[in-house]
Amino acid sequence: MIIAVDGPAGSGKSTISKLVAKELNLLYIDTGAMYRAVTFMWLQTQLLGRPYLEEKLITDNDVRKAIKKEILYKHHEKALQIICDNIKIKLETSDSGLKTFLNDIDISEYIRTTLVTQNVSHIASYKEVRTFLVDEQRRISQGTNVILDGRDIGTVVFPFADYKFFLTASIEVRAKRRLEDMKKTGEEISLEELCADLKRRDHLDSTREEAPLLKAHDALEINTDNFTIDEVKNQILNIVRSN
Ligand code: DC
Repeated sequence: MIIAVDGPAGSGKSTISKLVAKELNLLYIDTGAMYRAVTFMWLQTQLLGRPYLEEKLITDNDVRKAIKKEILYKHHEKALQIICDNIKIKLETSDSGLKTFLNDIDISEYIRTTLVTQNVSHIASYKEVRTFLVDEQRRISQGTNVILDGRDIGTVVFPFADYKFFLTASIEVRAKRRLEDMKKTGEEISLEELCADLKRRDHLDSTREEAPLLKAHDALEINTDNFTIDEVKNQILNIVRSN
């Protein structure tokens, strides 16, 4: 069984998908974490990421040199292709939450930083990155019952998914949810800044050429503004269980 959950940032996708996965014993794939992992690697190669982990992430010196050379000459597509050819992303659900590994290094604590969040929509717009990650998502899902959340699951990754949901929420509600998430990481950011960032990412995600954020024609849209997490989870469970 494949369940696709799409929607903009802060619509509740990952919280709900995790709970549904637990309840139905499904594998949960947070595809946003995969785009964040590639973005983290990209920032690392440009010396922007902190702390500096690049050598641990890609141990082959020639590969690192090749990526840097392409970046230097602004061949970003080529640099991203080399990155994609040389990384392995693994997601693991643990009691302390979802863990993201890049070439077997746990990068979970780095992928939610403001720096990664500000750059991920741009990196996610490259065809090289999308082709690599969509293939990975299909490979990981093979032969398993799975719930994936993202922007293009019901439209591109699994257009024939058994169930498709499209979660939405107003910008104010989404920004407040993100603020709560950010408090946990200790990063200081205002509600206004979060609203502006969400709008910017919505715009980039829904206007890009490759697999834009879009409701699949056969997806059920749920506005989560006035529902609790449990209510949305139960709506989804009822639909899946009644079929
Ligand atoms: O769900 P998230 O906020 O962690 O996702 C981070 C970014 O990754 C988001 O701004 C757009 C991109 N993304 C995407 O383009 N396609 C997906 N399937 C998932 C995420």
